[in-house]
Amino acid sequence: MHDRPEIEAVLEMESINSTPRIHTGKSSSTNTEDGVFLTWKDLWVTVVNGKNGRPILQGLIGFARPGELLAIMGPSGCGKSALLNALAGILDPHTRKAVDIIINGHKQTMAYGTSAYITQDEALIHTLIITEVVYYSTQLRLPNTMSRSKKKQRAETTIREMGLQDAMNTRVGGWGNNGLSGGEKRRLSICIEILTLPKLLFLDEPTSGLDSASSYHVMRSIASLKRRDGIRRTIIASMYN
Ligand SMILES: Nc1ncnc2c1ncn2[C@@H]1O[C@H](COP(=O)(O)OP(=O)(O)OP(=O)(O)O)[C@@H](O)[C@H]1O
Ligand SMILES: [Mg+2]
Repeated sequence: MHDRPEIEAVLEMESINSTPRIHTGKSSSTNTEDGVFLTWKDLWVTVVNGKNGRPILQGLIGFARPGELLAIMGPSGCGKSALLNALAGILDPHTRKAVDIIINGHKQTMAYGTSAYITQDEALIHTLIITEVVYYSTQLRLPNTMSRSKKKQRAETTIREMGLQDAMNTRVGGWGNNGLSGGEKRRLSICIEILTLPKLLFLDEPTSGLDSASSYHVMRSIASLKRRDGIRRTIIASMYN
């Protein structure tokens, strides 16, 4: 059997009304100069339905540290995506949220470019090959001041970091059109989001729908991003259990 990819902390969500428990593993330095120490307090998410509001998350607290992977675990419908969306500042017109976000000791909202969010749904163009997908993404996401050769270099390094170098010329593929495996597609989605070297990474169920071997490879790639490119990344991933 494979080793378990390193997960430093687990936040267990049992039901939408329970208070989650946080188990932390190894202790690590709280020096946050080169990373994001994220704390959330009194996090509420309410579904808005006319005048009535139905709370789906109530008064949650928690934290995530640089250089560590925090797994948010719980059954379907317990509020994992709602929590990630609230932390990442993703707006949903049907919900209202209230939360105190503290980043490196200061109460603030998430600045653009600090974080990247990888959603549960895949949004890749089926007819492109990996190198095209990643190279086009560098053109769209990296600044115009960055040279073409630097962008190409960033694309190639990131493809390798995600372990996709052997599939560089493979088409994404879709229904009736063979291409990348489910795990490779998931790693490609992550690859696109980390091109900008974000210090904080949110992943919503990166292993859903994958078999255990593919899940292992995806989680190992994610865990390897904790300390890469001279950055101590804070990684928060939700997982069905
Ligand atoms: N816009 C919405 N309108 C109504 N109910 C909502 C809305 N968004 C979330 N909910 C409800 O809030 C609860 C939590 O949803 P959420 O998507 O966060 O669960 P989850 O833990 O991510 O589940 P899964 O593992 O299936 O993705 C669910 O009961 C869901 O039906
Ligand atoms: Mg979800």
